[in-house]
Amino acid sequence: MRSRQRWLLGCGAMLLGLLLGGAWLFQGNRQQAVAASAQKVDDHECLLPNENWKMPFKDEIPIIYVSRSSDPAKWEALKSFWNEATEKAVDPKTGLEVQRKVVYLKLPLGLNTIPPVPPENPLTVQKWKLGKDLYFDPILSSDRTVSCATCHDPTKGYTDQSPVSTGIAGNKGGVSAPTVLNSAYHVFQFWDGRAASLEDQSQGPPQNALEMFDGEGHAWRRVVERIRAEPEYVKRFKAIFGTVPTRDTVAKAIATYERTVFSGNSIFDRAELAMRQRVEREADEGKAVQQELTKADFLTALKGAFAKKDTTALTALKLDPANDAAKAEEIAGRLLNGRNLFFGKARCNACHVGENFTDNTFHNLGVGAKDGELDAKHAGRYAAMPPGHKQPEFFGAFKTPTLRHLLSTAPYMHDGSEKTLEEVIDFYDRGGNVNPYLDVKMRDENAERQWYRAKAEGRVVKLPDQARVYDGRVIIPLKLHLTKEEKADLVLFLRALQGDDPDPIVADPKK
Ligand code: HEC
Ligand code: HEC
Repeated sequence: MRSRQRWLLGCGAMLLGLLLGGAWLFQGNRQQAVAASAQKVDDHECLLPNENWKMPFKDEIPIIYVSRSSDPAKWEALKSFWNEATEKAVDPKTGLEVQRKVVYLKLPLGLNTIPPVPPENPLTVQKWKLGKDLYFDPILSSDRTVSCATCHDPTKGYTDQSPVSTGIAGNKGGVSAPTVLNSAYHVFQFWDGRAASLEDQSQGPPQNALEMFDGEGHAWRRVVERIRAEPEYVKRFKAIFGTVPTRDTVAKAIATYERTVFSGNSIFDRAELAMRQRVEREADEGKAVQQELTKADFLTALKGAFAKKDTTALTALKLDPANDAAKAEEIAGRLLNGRNLFFGKARCNACHVGENFTDNTFHNLGVGAKDGELDAKHAGRYAAMPPGHKQPEFFGAFKTPTLRHLLSTAPYMHDGSEKTLEEVIDFYDRGGNVNPYLDVKMRDENAERQWYRAKAEGRVVKLPDQARVYDGRVIIPLKLHLTKEEKADLVLFLRALQGDDPDPIVADPKK
């Protein structure tokens, strides 16, 4: 069974335990057993629903994802991101067929996978709207000054564009706020992956003393009490969940909102679409099919953007929609070169893979290392591993972030230490920062093997400047030897991953 489900059942079981008094377990001591379990149950954490409070089934509006691969015809037919429609559905309480509203969410081009949704927290419009209101409401912070949007601002690519975040009372955090864009796809949340779901994650900030909590009393109890003091919120929680606001249901609502925050339809996605359409054409015409991105595919994408006067996509590439159409040819060639470097010589795809450009795991690039050493402040994934499960190779490892929408999310890396994409490329070109646990994919393993062999044979080998020996272990960072032009083309390719800004219905708190 999934751990979240188990936790919820546990919560229910605790309440049941309270009712039954655990009589058969503690027969001689029934009163005491009841008192003990009463202390354990906190109705601010979770409550079992009162079905009578819930809105009728026919009024609930489910949100249904549609991606280009889940349902091509439907995806093609949908006009916008948010599409209202009606459907027939069977009310599970009465067994009768009813007509009800639904919303079809058209996932942006390039995001073909349907994001996972926990079975205990299905998407509905009412829950989404509640989550959206909570996301933008400073009520979650002790002094009502900071909301989720303070640090994950839709107008700043759902980040705060700062090396570290500022929480209540001007407190500075220790790491850079990652974007919420496409976080619906993450296997782990946070730089060190310490949360397994958006539901888990959203419970963090309201009790984090640097972010939303002033340190007085029990953080979540107070959050829930503040929300319960607002009759409008209470009414909505009862209709949606059948309970007054609890930590469980606040987390569910916010996670629901986050599951609609996407970035896609970048020039790269459009070039990939152009490629697939070209391949179909070539196959129909009986030609030899080239199932690889070509310059022509990038050119098709660029021409389409000029025809639409697509300012977002073109300015991302530093092109003027009104005057630069003649440059499309040259830029298409450079984009193809950048793409080939990304998947080839620069091997960025060793970690940044798939639709969201992440392998959903953790790597040590040496971000934060000085003079070959990395202090415990940058322990990353290693610190999040529970005792009994520590893996030294994860010391200094952080989650591979998405590479979509980078132009809105500078500065880069968990500590915001790289200010521009050019700086990021220089960082990789020199092989990252040497330290005892530099990721194997960042190292020159051949050179390391030669060093060990030479040592065994008693020969002396001169190490490159950037290498170090730690307790007899050699670490030789892999330099990429990119030329100036190659670096520029790689940056241009990253700029072509800038997606459309999220639809105003999601990004604008007033819509
Ligand atoms: C004071 C600034 C601040 C506030 C307020 C804040 N966050 Fe964050 N958020 C951060 C920082 C910093 C991180 C990274 C922390 C880490 O990885 O250790 C983060 C991480 C996240 C992540 C994980 C993304 C990823 O790629 O791993 C999500 C999702 C998120 N926050 C959503 C929220 C939500 C929802 C709220 C409101 C309940 C919220 N945040 C409030 C600063 C903030
Ligand atoms: C060994 C795995 C690995 C390889 C190879 C790799 N990356 Fe990364 N990338 C990461 C990880 C992990 C981070 C976050 C590191 C940190 O903050 O400590 C990251 C961060 C980034 C960031 C910053 C994103 C942000 O939101 O802060 C960019 C940009 C980036 N990588 C681009 C590239 C490019 C371009 C290449 C190829 C030259 C590349 N990466 C190769 C794993 C990798």
